[in-house]
Amino acid sequence: MPKISGELVLPGDKSISHRAALFAALRDGESEFENFNFNRDCSATLACLNQLGIAHSFDGRKLKVGGKPLKQWQKPSSELNAENSGTTARLMSGLLIHLPFETTLIGDASLSRRPMKRILDPLRLMGAKIKDADGHLPLTYFPVEHINGIEYPLPVASAQVKSAVLLAGLFAEGETHVIESVPTRDHTERLLNLPVRFDEAGRKVILSSSEIQIPDISMTIPGDFSSAAFFITAALLAPQSDLWIRNVSLNPTRTGFLEVLKRMGVTLQTQTTQEKPEPMGDIRIQSQTFKNITIPKELVPNIIDEIPILSILATRGEGMLVVRNASELRVKESDRIHAIVTNLRSVGVQVEEFDDGFALEGPQKIKGGRVVTYGDHRIAMSFAIANLIAEDEIVLDQPECVDVSFPQFFDLLARIVKE
Ligand code: S3P
Repeated sequence: MPKISGELVLPGDKSISHRAALFAALRDGESEFENFNFNRDCSATLACLNQLGIAHSFDGRKLKVGGKPLKQWQKPSSELNAENSGTTARLMSGLLIHLPFETTLIGDASLSRRPMKRILDPLRLMGAKIKDADGHLPLTYFPVEHINGIEYPLPVASAQVKSAVLLAGLFAEGETHVIESVPTRDHTERLLNLPVRFDEAGRKVILSSSEIQIPDISMTIPGDFSSAAFFITAALLAPQSDLWIRNVSLNPTRTGFLEVLKRMGVTLQTQTTQEKPEPMGDIRIQSQTFKNITIPKELVPNIIDEIPILSILATRGEGMLVVRNASELRVKESDRIHAIVTNLRSVGVQVEEFDDGFALEGPQKIKGGRVVTYGDHRIAMSFAIANLIAEDEIVLDQPECVDVSFPQFFDLLARIVKE
């Protein structure tokens, strides 16, 4: 069995990269980003912005985005294509409702199956005029005279919905408040310096359109923690491993996976090297044994993207891993509960499926076999890591789908796998 060792610096965080491009596009002037993630999702955001008249350039190190006030954005010559990216579609919607011309947003087959009612409801409450296809893409946004601020308690724990409403609120009349009962990733409020208050309803993000100026958020984007989770798992599972991941995001609304590992009895070394605008630092991972746990409900939104790789980790833990309250997984790039359960079964792992999650008892052997990724990058990467500890080879049907978030995945994995 190979061991995992060495040091890695990962491409920039996907959620931050999307927001970097979008917020820079709104600011009058040029912003610069190092370690921007040019994966398929973030490239779709840049391409949509480009069609709206926002130019960018890349000199091999820095992405430069030439922003313009929203009023000066241009009418695109064709439909905007968010491809596979829910973040592009949902965040961009908060801006498209304000444009003085009609725009239409489309996506690939997976994105066209994903629910958009969650953004349509609040945006329509604000006065937006949007045509949808029964709660799905394509969405057409029509110009309206007024968009008003709202107070919106999030019915689903979603940073994409929160951010869509906040972006819409930037150009709305009056204040916009978004209230979440369970915290979700907070990159939007951090980067826009939005005040947050806590009361009995939960965590309230406050945006007053008359007071806000889009700040210059030029920065080096921290490495993507969700990408790091695959290599953290690899190093925990492969014997005699010792891996450092440097300059990775340590934003506490993203590192719930570290909290889960701690509760599983894992010891890791982390050191924070930067707090603002986004926490960042280094993580050292050495192979070790651990026990499985029941995931607390309130941690689920924070580890939502890490649950596929957690299922692989749990095959080697002692006892039961129970994931419930995670029905959001059914409406990600694929139905991830179905994808996790059916693929684990096809590589010889016994697992129970629930409407809102799954449970498996470890330790179990992973035999090997064919994995259907459903074109879902996180399913592909999870089973590529399972392959390291499988008895026989695991073959992915569409390995190239990792390009959606992490085109460098297989190259970086090869760099740290030592035979
Ligand atoms: C994201 C939020 C999460 C996450 C997605 C990126 C974001 O989605 O799963 O990968 O950048 O805001 P939801 O907001 O739908 O939970």
